[in-house]
Amino acid sequence: MTTFRPIDDLEPGQRLLVRIDVNAAVEDGTVQDSRRFARHAETIRELLADDHAIAVLAHQGRPGEDTFVSLEEHAEIFADHLDHPVAFVSDTCGEEALSAIDDLEPGDVLLLENVRMCDGELPEEEPETKAKTDLVRTLAPEFDAYVGDAYSTAHRSHASIVGFPHVMDAYAGRVMEQEYTAITAVRNRAFDGPVTMVLGGTKAEDTIPIVEQLDDTVDRFCLGGVVGELFLRADGHTVGYDVADTSLFDHQWDDYRDDLERILEAYRDRLRLPTDLACEDDDGERAEVAVEGTTKERPFLDVGAETAERYADVVADSAAVFIKGSLGVFEDERFADGTVMVLSATAEADCFSVVGGGDTARAVELYDFDENDFSRITIAGGAYVRALTGDPLVGVDVLKSHH
Ligand code: 3PG
Repeated sequence: MTTFRPIDDLEPGQRLLVRIDVNAAVEDGTVQDSRRFARHAETIRELLADDHAIAVLAHQGRPGEDTFVSLEEHAEIFADHLDHPVAFVSDTCGEEALSAIDDLEPGDVLLLENVRMCDGELPEEEPETKAKTDLVRTLAPEFDAYVGDAYSTAHRSHASIVGFPHVMDAYAGRVMEQEYTAITAVRNRAFDGPVTMVLGGTKAEDTIPIVEQLDDTVDRFCLGGVVGELFLRADGHTVGYDVADTSLFDHQWDDYRDDLERILEAYRDRLRLPTDLACEDDDGERAEVAVEGTTKERPFLDVGAETAERYADVVADSAAVFIKGSLGVFEDERFADGTVMVLSATAEADCFSVVGGGDTARAVELYDFDENDFSRITIAGGAYVRALTGDPLVGVDVLKSHH
């Protein structure tokens, strides 16, 4: 398999177009800082040290969503992480952008406007089609090379991801390289001991293919969250359905019941299911119930203490741990025990570890874990799940094949 061309191979002083992913949460109209800014700042810092002139492409939200906003605030947040000015132009490939690109000097960083505001960016099409968009045709001639750093968007066949590398000299940035290496380790690396995957979160459709595809690489799957409860329902327990105002369970049960039952049957020896669950009692305190014999009356918000300890023991005895999705509603301290205990056991274990999926990586910050105690906290969401299930990532493939 061809490998990435690393940024170390770039001659100094080039004009570079760098695609990053700082897609962020937007709360009350304000763009929220995230680990993504800090990570991509590392790539840009390295490039600056080699006197390149840098234009940066990124996206935010999708047309029609509240989070589809300008990147003006992103430029400020990014500049803080970089400790270096980041100019912003409210145009991506029009005259204003071209003039700002023309003015770029070595050591300059310019963030172009949200690339999803350009017509040709979004429809998912083949790289050769994306290479013919106005966006690519206009910007590509302005630069010596393209650096793909947006691993977390590499599952999208968008112009800024696959079009440029199709027609330009293309390199992989540090985030691209590191995320790819860490995440593909689950299938590419031989580990000297058991491999454990902790699967939580809310989406059964993400979990089902992971269990099936990683059947011969992962020895134990510890299940929790909404997904864990759905598996318990498939196992005949009276949990895993909607109560109160929730609408997380029943529609997934209708859609995936057969898959859940089939997987339980086929992989039972590898699956670990919760034996107790936690909920909120009438006084607003955490209460726990054994799964066996219980009938769900109120929402379960975490796995119970016995389950958390069992999972922590499994993790402690692993050579590799991959975490995808949380075991409970960790944003509420009362229901963080399962997620936190598994993270602590992972941090303490002498193992290769990757944490990611949805917001799970946020728990690392929220509960003051040291990021260095994990091999990788991934900033990828959808791409992490795709890569774990073995789906090719177009943005990775195109960078590997088009040097
Ligand atoms: C992400 O946040 O997962 C990536 O930026 C991809 O965003 P998308 O799901 O809107 O394509």
